[in-house]
Amino acid sequence: MPQRAEAGDAAALASLDEACFEGRERWSEKLWEDELRASDRFVVVQRDTHELVAAATFQQVVDTADLHRVMVHPSRRGLGLAQQLVLAGIEWALGRGAERMLLEVRHDNHAALGLYRRLGFETLDTRPDYYGAGLDAQVMSADLPLRPRGADHD
Ligand SMILES: CC(C)(COP(=O)(O)OP(=O)(O)OC[C@H]1O[C@@H](n2cnc3c(N)ncnc32)[C@H](O)[C@@H]1OP(=O)(O)O)[C@@H](O)C(=O)NCCC(=O)NCCS
Repeated sequence: MPQRAEAGDAAALASLDEACFEGRERWSEKLWEDELRASDRFVVVQRDTHELVAAATFQQVVDTADLHRVMVHPSRRGLGLAQQLVLAGIEWALGRGAERMLLEVRHDNHAALGLYRRLGFETLDTRPDYYGAGLDAQVMSADLPLRPRGADHD
């Protein structure tokens, strides 16, 4: 079950981040501390007993929510945890009056692209070299509330 992160979760979030991202894409413990402290953010996690196994973070500005990050420990992927986290973020954003959600994703991140498309996000734009030379970002958007695409329509 997704739960709001606690103030003391920064170290565990940074450790999960290290297991999910490489090199310069990693977020430090300090960055996670800032994310947990910011009043316009929603950091949501999934725990297995006490271990933090998945997390996502969102920001809301006026009527637009941004999905900043979603990550699932490699040993827990393919179980629907990321989808549950994004849906929890959408519920939070809807409660604050959001009308759409935006995100950026690396063009070669097939798992994340699959997740976002499955939920009904569509590509708005491409940002060349956003993540480094040859590593473009796709900017994706979904109107809220979502209309998830069923498996039949994939
Ligand atoms: C992307 C990520 C968060 C997906 O987490 P997950 O918990 O395995 O995803 P879910 O089990 O919730 O999958 C939901 C849907 O996403 C899609 N999906 C998930 N993994 C996929 C993969 N490897 N390839 C294609 N589609 C995939 C599928 O449509 C899936 O639905 P289905 O299983 O009913 O077909 C995970 O792979 C991850 O942590 N990656 C590293 C961090 C990252 O790149 N984050 C995104 C950028 S911030």
